[in-house]
Amino acid sequence: MSSYNPLIAEPARLKVLVDRGTMSGANARYEKRLADLTGLYRDDSAFAAALGRDDGEPVYVVESSTVEEGTGALTIGISTVQPGRIGAEFSMTRGHIHAHPEFAELYYGLSGTGVMLMETLDGESRAIEITPGVAVHVPGHWIHRSVNVGDTPFSTLFCYAAEAGQDYGVIEQAGGMRRLVVSGPESWTLADNPDHVGYRRESEFPS
Ligand SMILES: [Fe+2]
Repeated sequence: MSSYNPLIAEPARLKVLVDRGTMSGANARYEKRLADLTGLYRDDSAFAAALGRDDGEPVYVVESSTVEEGTGALTIGISTVQPGRIGAEFSMTRGHIHAHPEFAELYYGLSGTGVMLMETLDGESRAIEITPGVAVHVPGHWIHRSVNVGDTPFSTLFCYAAEAGQDYGVIEQAGGMRRLVVSGPESWTLADNPDHVGYRRESEFPS
């Protein structure tokens, strides 16, 4: 007689398809096209020019698996950011802090070369380069964004608590992240973002 408990989720087999930047077995997909990213990059004329020659393909895609909800549940997925530059800035994700900011996240490099740009609400900034085989352990309370600094798709495997959630507004309300990942003499470098006005304090976040 089966003792199957309907409250226990079915395990999932996930296969990372590195060449495609996708994951079979995922049950959610999220795509962003260049047209969805108005205001993300500082150089408006470079953005308009890029939009003018855009083919409408996604510039980043996230496929993920969430098989249960609540405390203890994980979301596991793959994120792929296409290469490119808008003005001096490299192709990137919008970035976020977790809606429950204390939740951490793992990123593991699968292909390409990228940078995980991380900032705290009180102005600390860190950038860690990710190549295949490099993992970044992003602790709680860090705003984080993936940036593709190479010329091939940049894919990472990620894992975070499903209940963490995302707050994308934190960056928009600050005029962008404090630092920009821009082209430099050794492929990439960091520059100050003159539009950044500081982040809201954590106590101002909705609970
Ligand atoms: Fe995250």
